[in-house]
Amino acid sequence: MTYGQQEKRIPLLLIHGFPLDRTMWRPQLEGLRDVARPIAPDLRGFGDSGDTPDIMNMGDYASDLHALLRTMGIQQAVICGLSMGGYIALAFLQKYPSMVQGLVLCHTKATDDPEETRKARLLTAKTVLESGSSKISVGLYDRMISEHTKQTRVDVTDHLKRMMDRQEPAAIAAASRGMAVRPDRTDMLASITVPTLIITSEQDQLIPASESTSMHEAIPGSTLVQIPDTGHLSNMENSDAFNEQLRLFLLSVGRRQHLQNA
Ligand code: MLT
Repeated sequence: MTYGQQEKRIPLLLIHGFPLDRTMWRPQLEGLRDVARPIAPDLRGFGDSGDTPDIMNMGDYASDLHALLRTMGIQQAVICGLSMGGYIALAFLQKYPSMVQGLVLCHTKATDDPEETRKARLLTAKTVLESGSSKISVGLYDRMISEHTKQTRVDVTDHLKRMMDRQEPAAIAAASRGMAVRPDRTDMLASITVPTLIITSEQDQLIPASESTSMHEAIPGSTLVQIPDTGHLSNMENSDAFNEQLRLFLLSVGRRQHLQNA
């Protein structure tokens, strides 16, 4: 691919979930380069990134990502977030609407947490700081992926376990505290005007598909798809089907841009 062609690809910002890192997007980095310019950073504190304060609000992560895109000279991107990444994608859209060319909301929701979940998040922060990341990763792992994936995809299960175990307690604590205080963003959904793809699966145990259906009903013109045989991490569990949907979406965003520029 020549330099000129590369510059025409749509920037695709991939925002990872909790408590994960940029490597969860490996199948998209490998599979979508011909239609997009995928960018998958580690959120602050996670993966190979730097230190984190005691709390990271969803808007703080969004500011970091905005600074990154600016540094890269990117004016507009398709913003794709999974789960916590989706909470951040909505915060990004709220703060920097003119930078969003399209939105992909995977296994996520616009609602805030009930009191019980808030308390559980604060307990998670305390537990990991006192006893280490593995104290939460074992239980979470079990609910993250489908039985089908557990039985058939040792590559995915190994990757997921390694990824969860290597995250710093301070990063997990800061993100947990930030998620606990995130606002309900349901009200902004009706005013979203950028093309929006919503991805879920029937077997998602962490964020039920009904949350995606509600967002789909609220966001004008949005598209809702279910990825078969997957739990909460369909981009890793069935990357072929996930990439196919994302590819179609990116091509349609590209065509829309072309028409607008014509
Ligand atoms: C995630 O996958 O990012 C988490 O399940 C989000 C959450 O805990 O709400």
